[in-house]
Amino acid sequence: METMFRTIGRDRKENAETFQKASQILRGGGLVAFPTETVYGLGGNGLDKQAALKIYAAKGRPSDNPLIIHIADLKAFNELCVDIPQTAYLLAEKFWPGPLTLVMKKHKNVPYTTTGGLDTVAVRMPNHPTALRLIKKSGIYIAAPSANLSGRPSPTNAAHVLQDLNGKIDMIIGDGEGDIGIESTIVDLTGRIPMILRPGYITKEMLCEVLGQVEIDPAVEQGKQNVQRPKAPGMKYRHYAPKGEMVIVEGMDERAVVNKINSLVRDKRLQGIRTGVLATDRTKGAYRADYVISVGSRENERCISSRLFDALRRFDDFGAEFIVSESFPRKNVGYAIMNRLSKAAGGRIINLDEKKENEDDSNRM
Ligand code: TXA
Ligand code: MG
Repeated sequence: METMFRTIGRDRKENAETFQKASQILRGGGLVAFPTETVYGLGGNGLDKQAALKIYAAKGRPSDNPLIIHIADLKAFNELCVDIPQTAYLLAEKFWPGPLTLVMKKHKNVPYTTTGGLDTVAVRMPNHPTALRLIKKSGIYIAAPSANLSGRPSPTNAAHVLQDLNGKIDMIIGDGEGDIGIESTIVDLTGRIPMILRPGYITKEMLCEVLGQVEIDPAVEQGKQNVQRPKAPGMKYRHYAPKGEMVIVEGMDERAVVNKINSLVRDKRLQGIRTGVLATDRTKGAYRADYVISVGSRENERCISSRLFDALRRFDDFGAEFIVSESFPRKNVGYAIMNRLSKAAGGRIINLDEKKENEDDSNRM
């Protein structure tokens, strides 16, 4: 299949043609990748079983992993969901359009192929003019997972989408970089207490301000691969992973972290292994790896989240076989950043402070 590639630019007429063409494809059951403020999505008609099956096939994604349906106005609630709780309206008012996905009971309109067999459906109103215009213009609800091959880091620009899906889908619309860069926060509203199934840019604290009480699903906290049935089925799969082996080094003392990373890298380089380090601006000059990428200033969480997946993909492009990453404080957006990083590393984290504590313990005994 030939994939049509169009970018959104200054020319209004060309843009109008792009939306026209994309809408035709979506209404005809085809697939169009498009930008959102988080990551690029691979869109198809959310109410069309066949379109959902095509999405799974193009991504190579297991079909028990449900899709998020993207909407452009709140009227959609009543066509996609039933038993809509008041909390949904409160969150929509505060955070939509934006990087927040709500899980509610599904309406019978929504096919089980879209929801991966679940009786619930995930809904989000993205905060991106191109995404919103496409939803409105096509007049459909767009089911869209991230537009990457299953298991690879999510795409934050059109080049990433081309890399993964060229020849597999009908069209790609390019329009800049996802400025948040990590996928939406998912909140399950079907239980007594709203539950975060996937952390993101909208933090627990922000949700608590609106709802009072919100909890994080234990499967997220564990951040490990050994959870049998996390509520967001996608969280159980190996994810975001670069091709090389990856490990995170964590510690309060920056110098100690740099030294540890350099010593891990040195051992691998002596074995002829190509190494990479995911660094930040202040430390990037201190590493002796084959390839060092800075994700920006430690103080700027937004910058780090927006560059994270691109960095992981660049390690692949470079052919890095062993990658070490610095870690980030697990507060605010840092919580979501560390969630993605630790998945990318398959849970391998070396904590220098814990080691020290343990050593202190053993000294005391
Ligand atoms: O920011 C985002 O959410 C991006 C952009 C494109 O909107 N989309 C995205 O979709 O990240 P995807 O398919 O890569 O991740 C969707 C996650 C999966 O972990 C899936 O298991 C979970 O949402 N999910 C979808 N429907 C669900 C449901 N009914 N109940 C629980 N989890 C659900
Ligand atoms: Mg995804």
